[in-house]
Amino acid sequence: KAEPPLKIMISGAPASGKGTQCELITQKYGLVHISAGDLLRAEIASGSENGKLAKEYMEKGQLVPDEIVVMMVKDRLSQTDSQQKGWLLDGYPRSSSQATALKGFGFQPDLFIVLEVPEDILIERVVGRRLDPVTGKIYHLKYSPPETEEISARLTQRFDDTEEKASPYETLSYSISAKLRLKTHNQNVSDVLSMYDDITIKIKGNRSKEEVFAQIDTALSQMLQQRNNTSPSS
Ligand code: AP5
Repeated sequence: KAEPPLKIMISGAPASGKGTQCELITQKYGLVHISAGDLLRAEIASGSENGKLAKEYMEKGQLVPDEIVVMMVKDRLSQTDSQQKGWLLDGYPRSSSQATALKGFGFQPDLFIVLEVPEDILIERVVGRRLDPVTGKIYHLKYSPPETEEISARLTQRFDDTEEKASPYETLSYSISAKLRLKTHNQNVSDVLSMYDDITIKIKGNRSKEEVFAQIDTALSQMLQQRNNTSPSS
């Protein structure tokens, strides 16, 4: 029997743990991880005009214009691997116009996961975040430290986590950058949530990454089981 592949969206404030949970979800469920932020960073790395424009918004913690983001996400969702394996959409939609566009293209998620984390914890997570440029894995100096010295030596920080120009005082400049992203998130979150009321599941994100994943895993297994029970198997 060929069940249709899972289609999931994950949302949450900056540094709420979306990327971290996506690693765990894709490991177990084999979905294609599509991160709007990663697509934009790849566009920046390519040196394109869109990339240059996107970077200006990202540095300020603002939403990149729909003209750039919407087609980028649509194209990735339409690719064969996403269609065959199912997808896990991370960081999109972030406004009602993006949600409307997604619907218009015929992409209807099965589940909308929302990670809830108190604001003081978010800042601490941003400050300690590091990335491995070789594997793409997300680390945290305190909560998910690198496994080896070799990895530790090559870890980098995201440009919008640091914002060097803002202040000579490191901790202060971190906070400014993260707070701007948080402000943008808070301005838009209710618009998006209201469009997915019927498929939303709220997850307590202020726990270890394993405990957060356990909540998501339970929800996904239940959903798959329900599907199996209701769909006529052939
Ligand atoms: P994006 O890249 O999506 O960034 P974000 O939303 O700010 O989220 P982050 O990637 O910062 O955090 P995360 O939730 O993935 O947390 P992570 O797992 O890394 O977007 C960047 C920018 O691109 C936006 O500001 C915007 O300008 C633009 N953009 C993106 N999408 C757009 C769209 N749709 N439209 C327009 N513009 C768009 O975890 C954070 C840290 O915490 C890590 O160090 C991790 O190890 C640690 N951690 C994770 N979980 C736990 C835990 N349970 N306990 C302890 N530590 C943990």
